[in-house]
Amino acid sequence: MMLMVVVVFGFGRAEGYRTVVIVHGIFDGPKQFRTLSRFITEAHPGTEVVVLDMYDNVSSLHPLWQQVGGFSGALTSIMSRSPAGVHLLCFSQGGLICRALLHTLPHHNVHSFISLSSPQAGQYGDTRYLRWLFPEHLKRNIFNICYNPFGQKVSICDYWNDPHHRERYIASSSFLALINAERHHALVQGWKENFLRIRKLVLIGGPDDDVITPWQSSHFGFYDDQENIVDMRKQDYYKEDGFGLKTLDGHGGIELCQRSGVKHTAWHSNYSVFTSCIEPWLT
Ligand SMILES: *[C@@H]1O[C@H](CO)[C@@H](O)[C@H](O)[C@H]1NC(C)=O
Ligand SMILES: *[C@@H]1O[C@H](CO)[C@@H](O)[C@H](O)[C@H]1NC(C)=O
Repeated sequence: MMLMVVVVFGFGRAEGYRTVVIVHGIFDGPKQFRTLSRFITEAHPGTEVVVLDMYDNVSSLHPLWQQVGGFSGALTSIMSRSPAGVHLLCFSQGGLICRALLHTLPHHNVHSFISLSSPQAGQYGDTRYLRWLFPEHLKRNIFNICYNPFGQKVSICDYWNDPHHRERYIASSSFLALINAERHHALVQGWKENFLRIRKLVLIGGPDDDVITPWQSSHFGFYDDQENIVDMRKQDYYKEDGFGLKTLDGHGGIELCQRSGVKHTAWHSNYSVFTSCIEPWLT
């Protein structure tokens, strides 16, 4: 037994560090991840870091399932030449694309999934992105645009989660309600099994983010219908283990990393966030 452990460890080191695949957020692209890529290669020399270059800038508004299709091809080809597995590091909206990839790719070999300030439980807040898209609308009215088949063709609507229109959300969300198993579908069990292939889910976020609303959505918490925060472990999708969160947590597979003083677009270039919340999971 002892010998096996040593052999596996030695083999892993001889092969070097696992490739890190980065998926960007809304309105950005590879350019915004140069600092993070440098942090990684300085900490772990020789690491291959790939920032996927697709759906950049305004193209990041394309429907999320369409983007998942594109990213899926790129990730699959990297994984197939990385038999020791890869790590997936995904920022903001990219964290939702990555989660959908983990649910829908049956043979993926992702070890750590690092979700960097990503609205995993949805978004309900006025942001400059939203005002740019829908200048005439208040957040309480956005559900009228988002919760219909046309609205669902804009990425932001795919994870718009209005706590005051829960039934409309569950019936109309063609993305988040499915990956969070809030609306039942035929593939739920398979998606859960695929997701549980990961070893570690690292959820990073904090109260000074100013974009992800509520910020606890980065830790799978969300508003109830009174806009009080319900934490991840008290959410129905956790308690019912709809997509594997509770099982993963039971294995010690979830790390919550909360940091104050970090604005949304500063997460990926903050060195103390990197050393404390990211680097430990990139081995
Ligand atoms: C996205 O915007 C950046 C400028 O911030 C630009 O350098 C880059 O070429 C753009 N990417 C695409 C694919 O248009
Ligand atoms: C970097 O992160 C630390 C928390 O780890 C925070 O106190 C600090 O304000 C952040 N700096 C910037 C520029 O975001």
